Amino acid sequence: MNNKIHKIEHSLVKHSLSVLRDKTTKTEMFRRHTATVSQIILADVLKNIATKEISVETQLGVAKGHKVQEKIVIVPVLRAGLSMLFPARDFLPWAAVGFIGLERDENTAIAREYYQNLPKDLGNKYTLILDPMLATGGSLVDTITAVKSKQAKSISAVCIVGAPEGIKRLQTEHPDVNLYITAIDSHLDENKFIVPGLGDFGDRYFGTE
Ligand code: PRP
Ligand code: URA
Repeated sequence: MNNKIHKIEHSLVKHSLSVLRDKTTKTEMFRRHTATVSQIILADVLKNIATKEISVETQLGVAKGHKVQEKIVIVPVLRAGLSMLFPARDFLPWAAVGFIGLERDENTAIAREYYQNLPKDLGNKYTLILDPMLATGGSLVDTITAVKSKQAKSISAVCIVGAPEGIKRLQTEHPDVNLYITAIDSHLDENKFIVPGLGDFGDRYFGTE
């Protein structure tokens, strides 16, 4: 099966993404525009999740209504994925949350896992992986491998900016996973950073530059 790459097209995303790209944008605005972009992507990702029909008593009668039926597990990739967890939690306050902590080595850009706390069985759940940056693809591929080891079958990855190299790796190693993304940039530089990209997302979002 080939990955479905869903490129999110939205004027407000384009506006916010430009603010995120701007190297002069400070933490406060970086956080605000990350939230806007994340909310719009998530609204798109979730627009067709399964619902069941319910009836709702209004003040004037009975209306046909809907209730979300899908069991969702959100998996933010620490640290930067936390920035997308906050908006996701606003839409899905009942969803379970599993964590994976991955950090790229500064010299090799290979991700090292330092934390994992995932639900035991993801078999009958929809797993939503959140990580704003998809560079070499190592972090996302490792995260997908980890959730698949918990039987996850229905998996979507949500990213803000990606590089062609990372997308290719995702397609090779996990061709069954859907990817939702707002921008696919030019290439990786010699340090495996996305060009033109956003810079170091985690440092900019958490103010640790
Ligand atoms: C960043 C980013 C991704 C990863 C992408 O995290 O949030 O997780 O790099 O790169 P890759 O596709 O080459 O694996 P980083 O390792 O900088 O850690 P942080 O989130 O704690 O800042
Ligand atoms: N991680 C980031 O934060 N930015 C990149 O460009 C690549 C990995």
